[in-house]
Amino acid sequence: MLMHALSVEDMTKKSEDILHAGRLGKFDESVAAFTSSIDIDPRLLEAVVQINSAHVLMLSDQKILDNYVARSLLRALQRIPRNIKLSKVLEDVHMNVEYFVISFLGKDVGGMLNLAKSRNDQVATAIRMDMRKALSQIAHALIGMESSLISQAKRHASTVMPGYTHLQRAQPVTVGHHLLAHFDALERDIQRLRQCFNRTNISPMGAGALASSSFDVDRRKVAYLLGFAGVVENSLDAVSSRDFATEAIYVCAQILNDLSKFAEELVLWTSKEFSFVEIPDKYTSTSSLMPQKKNPVVPEIVRAKAAQAIGDLVGALGIMKSLPLTYNLDLQELSRNLWSTTDKALHSLIVFGEMVRNLKFNETVLEEATKTDEALYATELADYLVTAFHLSFREAHSRVASLVRYAASKNQSSLFRSLGERDLSRILRVPITVKEVESLIEPLRVLSKRKALGAPNPKLVIAACVRRERSLVDQDRDWNRIDRKLTKARRSLDSRIEKILANKAMRMNKSAQKEVTNKEKGEEVKQ
Ligand code: ARG
Repeated sequence: MLMHALSVEDMTKKSEDILHAGRLGKFDESVAAFTSSIDIDPRLLEAVVQINSAHVLMLSDQKILDNYVARSLLRALQRIPRNIKLSKVLEDVHMNVEYFVISFLGKDVGGMLNLAKSRNDQVATAIRMDMRKALSQIAHALIGMESSLISQAKRHASTVMPGYTHLQRAQPVTVGHHLLAHFDALERDIQRLRQCFNRTNISPMGAGALASSSFDVDRRKVAYLLGFAGVVENSLDAVSSRDFATEAIYVCAQILNDLSKFAEELVLWTSKEFSFVEIPDKYTSTSSLMPQKKNPVVPEIVRAKAAQAIGDLVGALGIMKSLPLTYNLDLQELSRNLWSTTDKALHSLIVFGEMVRNLKFNETVLEEATKTDEALYATELADYLVTAFHLSFREAHSRVASLVRYAASKNQSSLFRSLGERDLSRILRVPITVKEVESLIEPLRVLSKRKALGAPNPKLVIAACVRRERSLVDQDRDWNRIDRKLTKARRSLDSRIEKILANKAMRMNKSAQKEVTNKEKGEEVKQ
């Protein structure tokens, strides 16, 4: 393409001639490098070409553009290489696309591309289109992560483990139950993603720079052609709002926070002190110095990415907080925060999700920890005193506390079993037998007694897994439906364009055709 071949000076000259003739003085390369979005814009190229095409189709349907001009513009847009090298002299992808079309068709025809639209409504639309894809990819990866958790939860519905508060051992739970807690947090995140998608999937096109257009544009038609569910109505709001973006950053930051909490547990649990779980080798790394090391690097990176996402969220909200309406170039910088967070969330979900599917829980260690640490059953004993000896809970609590204190003073690792019936009855001040106490410290028995909704009873955990698996299938279907709708819109836009380009009746008159063909030839030689 012509653009590649030109030096910065020539390009500057040419772009000034073509795009902003006469408005400003000399262009400064280092300032352009500072204010341009070229480095992040390739991501938007595909959407920008589609938006331009849909806009041209609408202008043609509205009889604002004649068939010949519309067809030429569509053809030029089709010719833009997907890997085109964008020039920073032209500021951004929008100007590059227009420049390409004008160089291809000449200013009379190509110069009609930006009729009744602006970079402001265009960029807001392009970001939304890119976000629809990103949100769907994140949702699919999240579903993958959730299904990893479910498959481990099912496998370990009866694998007992100590549950913690304040990182101190508290009461027995199961690994399955613990994993479902992480699942449920992610389940709320996928609902947030879905709501964020709805607020993202509306089109700003037709809002122009800020005040729409004096031409009779059909905003709904462009929205429809681009697969949007509707339009962002108010033209000022359409070009200046980015709350769909800050919301997406928040949802991704929340996902990463939820992953990070689990990541932190895995870092602890893989340490020798816990040894609850083993991460397969390929998700770990060793030390360049200490040959014995196996470091939990994937959870560590997830933990750090969650922190960076928080930074991106704070930065994005900061950018937005005092912007006067409407478009300000500050908005361009927000896209960096947006994409850096969505990319992080997607990548983390994929790698971490795969890792979780392959974790190996150390059942022997977990069972041992849950069985031998009798302090985990202190609450169970207090509850029993209430039921069997009609004490108030507070009274039972303080009698068991005395027992715990006594055992600690004797340096007893086992709280109850090492004490005889006499000691137990004396300290608890009730005629309790060793047999009664032993029945209280059997983890699976303790857990299966819990019947309340959401309790760590293995049977309830299995039932919860089954329900959640079903809901995952529904979520997957929902997001597949979204993907299909977007693909369908894309295909019908493409086929409308193809039809127009193939339609003989819409072909230009002979002399115009010759002129354009000559131009094309000239351009192609310089590519
Ligand atoms: N590159 C800008 C962005 O990413 C869009 C251009 C709007 N510029 C303007 N001068 N109105 O947001």
